[in-house]
Amino acid sequence: MSGTTDSYKTNFTETKDIVFKIFRYEPDVNPKPHFDTFTVPVVKGWTVLDAVMYIKENLDSTVSYRASCRMGICGSCAMEINGKPRLACQTQVISELRSKEVVIKPLANYPVLRDVVPDLTPLIEKHADVRPYILRKDKKVEVNPKGELYQTPDQLEEYLQFSYCIKCGACLAACPVTGADVKFIGPQALTQSYRYSVDTRDDGFKLRLEVMDHSHGVWHCHFAGACSEACPKGVDPAFAIQLFKREITARKFGKEVEPARLARQPADVKRRENIPYAPEKTVKQ
Ligand code: SF4
Ligand code: FES
Repeated sequence: MSGTTDSYKTNFTETKDIVFKIFRYEPDVNPKPHFDTFTVPVVKGWTVLDAVMYIKENLDSTVSYRASCRMGICGSCAMEINGKPRLACQTQVISELRSKEVVIKPLANYPVLRDVVPDLTPLIEKHADVRPYILRKDKKVEVNPKGELYQTPDQLEEYLQFSYCIKCGACLAACPVTGADVKFIGPQALTQSYRYSVDTRDDGFKLRLEVMDHSHGVWHCHFAGACSEACPKGVDPAFAIQLFKREITARKFGKEVEPARLARQPADVKRRENIPYAPEKTVKQ
């Protein structure tokens, strides 16, 4: 057997005992929050989510957590791990945390449903408030455009980074302003508001301003930067919020933006053969 195969084998059979302290809150059973402690034989390469799943499967089946994709895409496994909001499925226990003890709590700044499961309603409601979709004055173009809207690659770059948000809620948990003001619209929604407002296909800047331009809106951000540090997708909400302040100021001082027009289809374009058509719409408009 080669040396490479031997070390591969060794890496995946060696374990290290790590103590996990998990926040417990079961409103129906025991309304008093407390911590339970578990010793987990962590295998090299395990994430915090792997360890929590091990606990549920082998040590205490009543431990509750939220997770789905296990690959940093769905955003559902965000929790506070050793004092910081992180995705449990993207946090390596041995090589990243480098600690004999791991303390897991629900995300701060949210109500708790049970154990480390937060109620993300504030995140979702604030996100919905900013109308995170393309708005147009011409409702026909908004609802059923008859073609594509012009956008250059440079215009796409203006907002692309901010569109990588997976709604994990870590930024709100890290934000000191959200902790002090429950009405603060928060870094996630502000970022999405900016993302759509600078999308050249969008024409909803003034509508979104009603939600953004007040004492619990964009101006309440102190630029602590904690949201950007916490964000697992590199969205950098703090940067988006400062750009948004600049954009609002520029438009108040007269900057005008013409939304993108529908691109006219060139006359000589022919549909390639054997490309199936989209199925008929099932919802009548
Ligand atoms: S901006 Fe980042 S931290 Fe905030 S919800 Fe989106 S992905 Fe999560
Ligand atoms: S389980 Fe989907 S992001 Fe962690």
